[in-house]
Amino acid sequence: MRAKNAGTVWRGLARRFRGAGIETAGLDARLLLGHVLGLDGLQLAVKENLLVSDADIASLELLAKRRLGGEPVARIVGSKEFYGLEFGLNEATLVPRPETEMLVDLGIEFLEGRKRCAILDLGTGSGCILISLLVNLSGAGGIGIDLSEEALEQAGQNSVCHGVEARTDWRAGSWFAPLGDEKFDLVVSNPPYIASQEIEGLQTEVRKFDPRVALDGGRDGLAAYRAIIGGASRHLRSPGTLLLEIGHDQAEAVAALCLENRFEKPSVRKDLAGQPRVIVAQY
Ligand SMILES: C[S@@+](CC[C@H](N)C(=O)[O-])C[C@H]1O[C@@H](n2cnc3c(N)ncnc32)[C@H](O)[C@@H]1O
Repeated sequence: MRAKNAGTVWRGLARRFRGAGIETAGLDARLLLGHVLGLDGLQLAVKENLLVSDADIASLELLAKRRLGGEPVARIVGSKEFYGLEFGLNEATLVPRPETEMLVDLGIEFLEGRKRCAILDLGTGSGCILISLLVNLSGAGGIGIDLSEEALEQAGQNSVCHGVEARTDWRAGSWFAPLGDEKFDLVVSNPPYIASQEIEGLQTEVRKFDPRVALDGGRDGLAAYRAIIGGASRHLRSPGTLLLEIGHDQAEAVAALCLENRFEKPSVRKDLAGQPRVIVAQY
């Protein structure tokens, strides 16, 4: 068989992915081939003529079958880029979503310029929010809490990869339970916020491959917000900021919970698609 070059290989795979209805076909094909060849996107782009061995084509085929079976590329390659940083993933961590980067933008906006500040990240998962904040705020330190020890193990490894481990502390338990009387300048969370009965209707990539505990927000999707907003004031300095990612139809309910719990002026921030995405509340 005539050896194929990298460009021909990934474009052929992209056609198969498109035929199967995968929206991000070209990107997924490049990421999978790059993973097999040990090249990042840029390296692959300038090495389109590189000959791909039969052994590499066979490895790629195994990964392609998993993608065609609905497994997200980030799960297959075991990492995902978030806020310009690469985050390792394991079975217990949610794949970080681009829309969550807004929490990091806002956190930086609130804390930039402070010589010292403390951040609490509730439901930290891969640690993507806290680590991205610490990489961009040299005077900040933070605690990341998650129910899952396995997720925290991954968050710890990610903090080492990004050189911020000395400013992090990972604790297992439910929301504020692993804390004593620590106070923070910023409490941030992307909690589980899908109503339990809606989970079955989610796309395969999410329903089958993200951990249920990272998605399930209880009967009305608001269970985590009740716990977090109810407990946050005890752990916020005044003035302090609460930043919460929300589902597109939850702004009103979450803002009302903030007001009930003595937070001031909760405001809704929209994402690039114009959807309500974050609630900002001051204490
Ligand atoms: C939507 S995921 C967010 C993960 C990560 N922060 C991100 O944005 O990619 C929610 C996280 O909350 C964690 N979680 C769920 N219930 C929890 C609880 N009661 N206490 C602490 N963490 C919890 C899950 O394990 C999961 O890692």
